[in-house]
Amino acid sequence: MKAAAGKLGVLTVGLGAVSTTFMAGVESVRRGHSRPIGSLTQMATIRLGKRTEGRAPLIKDFVPLAELDDLVFGAWDPIPDDALTAARKAGVLDERDLAPVADFLAAIKPMPAAFETKYVARIQGTNLKTGTTKRDLAEQIRKDIRDFISRNDLDRAVVVWCASTEIFITPGPQHATIEQFERAMERNDDAIAPSMLYAWAAIMEGVPFANGAPNLCVDTLALIDLAQQKGVPVSGKDFKTGQTWLKTVLAPALKARMLGLAGWYSTNILGNRDGEVLDDPASFKTKEESKLSVLHTILQPEVYPDLYKDFAHVVRINYYPPRGDNKEGWDNIDIFGWMNYPMQIKINFLCRDSILAAPLVLDLALLSDFASRAGMKGIQEWLSFYYKSPMAAAGLQPEHDLFIQQTKLKNTMRHLMGEEQITHLGLEYYT
Ligand SMILES: NC(=O)c1ccc[n+]([C@@H]2O[C@H](COP(=O)([O-])OP(=O)(O)OC[C@H]3O[C@@H](n4cnc5c(N)ncnc54)[C@H](O)[C@@H]3O)[C@@H](O)[C@H]2O)c1
Repeated sequence: MKAAAGKLGVLTVGLGAVSTTFMAGVESVRRGHSRPIGSLTQMATIRLGKRTEGRAPLIKDFVPLAELDDLVFGAWDPIPDDALTAARKAGVLDERDLAPVADFLAAIKPMPAAFETKYVARIQGTNLKTGTTKRDLAEQIRKDIRDFISRNDLDRAVVVWCASTEIFITPGPQHATIEQFERAMERNDDAIAPSMLYAWAAIMEGVPFANGAPNLCVDTLALIDLAQQKGVPVSGKDFKTGQTWLKTVLAPALKARMLGLAGWYSTNILGNRDGEVLDDPASFKTKEESKLSVLHTILQPEVYPDLYKDFAHVVRINYYPPRGDNKEGWDNIDIFGWMNYPMQIKINFLCRDSILAAPLVLDLALLSDFASRAGMKGIQEWLSFYYKSPMAAAGLQPEHDLFIQQTKLKNTMRHLMGEEQITHLGLEYYT
């Protein structure tokens, strides 16, 4: 495996609440002001071998990951604000946390974006690339990546989509093969959204790509095929943070005990820019599809019709400016048990969206880079742990259960590092 030597560029598409919270946090850790809370790659251990061996190193001491000191940040955004201004506008971090890293953030200025309001209705931008075709724009993104690498003397780079959720697009013939995709870029076909241009550009440059939003982006046959051909790891979609993260913990618990589900009503209020974008029905539809998919896959109503046939599942997001980034999510879960007796579970999660998402961006950047050095390519299903709508090979159901995803994540690390996978069989006591 190629060593994690030299510097790693982390380019985010979008320099909004999530990206700036991520960058400010990494710099704050580097300057000794905070701990990387929420990041598995920085804080979690991994058990190796039999329990009797007592080996449980930190993941970062076991897997050769880039050091935080070796990360160099860049971004694209249609809004020209530098990362400090963007972080202040996002209102996630307090001034007392921004001030000690203000110089660092002010130096991160977004490159012009490939952007069209048609795909994200609520954003108006002035920091834009121009070109006659979408292919032109994508070639400019490729050049940005190359220039960023050479300007900063980087060894390699990764790209993470932390930009707004685009409108819902269904995969069509334009996304079926690389040739059709490239022709569609050349004739400015509407089915090619800006997010796809970044994904294409990154893959063409041999740079891993992770998609933190629910839009189609890299999740098309054409781009997955391209990633395979070019030997590039890709992953997505949609960071699994607040409500859906808890859903993928609770639903497996109900199923593990064979308790029935009559309905699950989820509603949210949030007031950040993401909430404003999701207030547009076309962007919300993309998010809704992503949030709705998890329960059916976990509960398997076709296998357990007595428990899960026809349960109601509703997800609402309400834009409510006073809340800013501090989302409030309510879940009302109607379950039933022995002799059909009904019960209810209520969850009220007062979370902070970007505080939950920032460590996921860090882990995805580091693990995508690790995957690339380990020779992995195409869809990285072992990174499903981080996503609401994990990408899966054609014809396969994605895995949504957080704990199966965690086992897969850790077993993949063990496998890549030549350690035995852990099955929890505990055979040592029987032999
Ligand atoms: N925070 C979470 O918990 C969470 C969880 C899952 C997914 N997400 C997704 O992450 C994304 C970012 O969230 P956020 O809160 O930072 O939003 P944000 O609105 O604060 O930032 C998004 C930024 O992306 C920019 N942008 C839009 N289109 C672009 C393009 N084509 N090229 C470059 N930049 C572009 C916008 O101008 C904006 O500055 C959203 O899609 C959101 O749905 C967030």
